[in-house]
Amino acid sequence: MRSFEYHNPTRVVFGPGRVKTLTDRIAPLRTAGVLGERCMVVYGSDRVLDSGLLGLVEGQLKAADCAVVRFGGVRPNPRLDTLTRAIEQIRDHGVNWVLALGGGSVIDLSKAAAAGVMYPGEPWDMVFHGQAHYRPPTEALPMVAIPTLAATGSEMDPIAVITNTGTRQKSFIRSDAIFPVLSILDPELTVSVPPDQTAYGVSDMISHVTETYFNGPGNTPLQDGFAESVVRVALKYGALAVKNGADIRARTQLQWAATVALNGWVQAGADGPFVVHAIEHVLSAWYDIAHGAGLAVLNPAWMLWAGRQNPEKFASFARRVLNVRDENDADAAARGAVELRKRFQAMGLPVTLQELGVSRDDWTDLADTAIATVGQGHEGRRVLPAIRPMDRDAIVDVFMLASREEWL
Ligand code: NZQ
Ligand code: ZN
Repeated sequence: MRSFEYHNPTRVVFGPGRVKTLTDRIAPLRTAGVLGERCMVVYGSDRVLDSGLLGLVEGQLKAADCAVVRFGGVRPNPRLDTLTRAIEQIRDHGVNWVLALGGGSVIDLSKAAAAGVMYPGEPWDMVFHGQAHYRPPTEALPMVAIPTLAATGSEMDPIAVITNTGTRQKSFIRSDAIFPVLSILDPELTVSVPPDQTAYGVSDMISHVTETYFNGPGNTPLQDGFAESVVRVALKYGALAVKNGADIRARTQLQWAATVALNGWVQAGADGPFVVHAIEHVLSAWYDIAHGAGLAVLNPAWMLWAGRQNPEKFASFARRVLNVRDENDADAAARGAVELRKRFQAMGLPVTLQELGVSRDDWTDLADTAIATVGQGHEGRRVLPAIRPMDRDAIVDVFMLASREEWL
C-alpha cells in the first residue's frame, strides 16, 4: 500500500425522490455565496424535457432564486467543439455556476466548461494528451451534478473526459477544481435507462475497480475488498436492472456502486494506471462507440492477457468474485476472464471487436494513438504503464484476444 492524501469535497444526497429536495440543498449554498444567481443547466437530448425532469429542476432552481440558462444537445463522448460552445455561452450569459442533468457525458462536459471559462489557455490544453508541459486547470466555476445514469462516477470525482475529433484523441482532465460541490443521486431518475446503456454502465463501474485492483501496488486488503464488493454488486444488480429497468432496488444498488467505484475509496493508497481505459478511449474516439461497450470487449481480454504473466491476483479475483474453483492459479486466472466475459454476454454486452465494428486494419494505429496520448517512457521505449507494461505489440495481442469468440 502506498502513502496517500485523500480529499473529496462533494456533498452527496442519495435516495429515491431526492431530486425534489434540490431547492433545499441549493438555498444554503446561495446564502453562503458558493452558488451565484445565474445557473447554466447542461443536458443531452430532449429526453429531459419530454419526461418533465428539466421542468422539475428548473422549478426547484427558481424557488432558490436562480435564473436558468439552458445548454442542451450534449452527445455521448462529449466533444471539444461542444465544450468551446458551452464556454462561450457561460461568458455570454454571465453564468456563475453549472448544473449537469444527465449521464457522464453531460457531467464531464459541465465540469470541463466550468473550468474552461477560467482557464488561461485553449480548452484542449486542459486535457492531458501527451503534452511535455501539461497545465491542468486550477480553478473552475462551482458545479452541481444530477446524474441520470449509473456508470462513470463523475458525480463524485475530479475527472472529465473529452474527445477531440480533429486529432482523434479522447482523454481526461483531472483537477481538484472540478469536483462537483453537490451531487444529488436519485436512483428513480435511472429507471428509464434502456438495457444496453444499463449494461454499459455496469461494465464501466467494474473496470474502474479492476484497473486499480490489478495494477495497484499490492498489500491493499481493504481497498481490494471494496473493489470486489463493487464487482459483485454490479454483476448481481446489473443483471436484474437489465431484465427489469423499473426495479428500483437494483437501480439503487447500481447507483451507489458506480459512485463508490471511482470516488477514491478504492484507489486511495492502491492507485494504479487505468490501462484498459487508455486503450478504450481510443476506440471511442475513432468509432464513437459507448465507453462501457468498448470496456466490455477489452477488459476481459486484457485480464486474460495480463493474467498469463501475473496469475496470482487474477486467480484470487476469479475465486473470490466469480466463484471459479480451479486450484492452479494460471487456470483460475484464465477461467476468471472467461467467466466475466460470459456474464457480460448474458447482459447483452458486446464481447468481440467485430461487434464494435473495429477494423483489424486500424489495430496498430489505435495502439500507437493510445501510447502517444497517455504513454510513458519505460526501459527506453514508450508504453502504457500497467502491471505488465504495454507497447504496441502488447496492445495488438489484446486486440487479437478481443477478436476471438472462444478462449478456452
Ligand atoms: O442525451 P441523453 O438524453 O442524456 O441520453 C443519454 C445518452 O444517449 C442516455 N441516458 C442517460 N440517462 C438516461 C438516458 N436514457 C434514458 N434514461 C435516462 N435516465 O444514455 C446515453 C449515454 O449517456 P452518457 O452520458 O454518454 O453515458 P455515461 O454515463 O456512460 O458516460 C460516458 C462518458 O463518460 C466518460 C466516458 O468516456 C464517456 O465519454 N467517462 C467519464 C469518467 C469520469 N468523469 O470520471 C470516467 C469514465 O471512465 C469514463 O471515461
Ligand atoms: Zn470508465
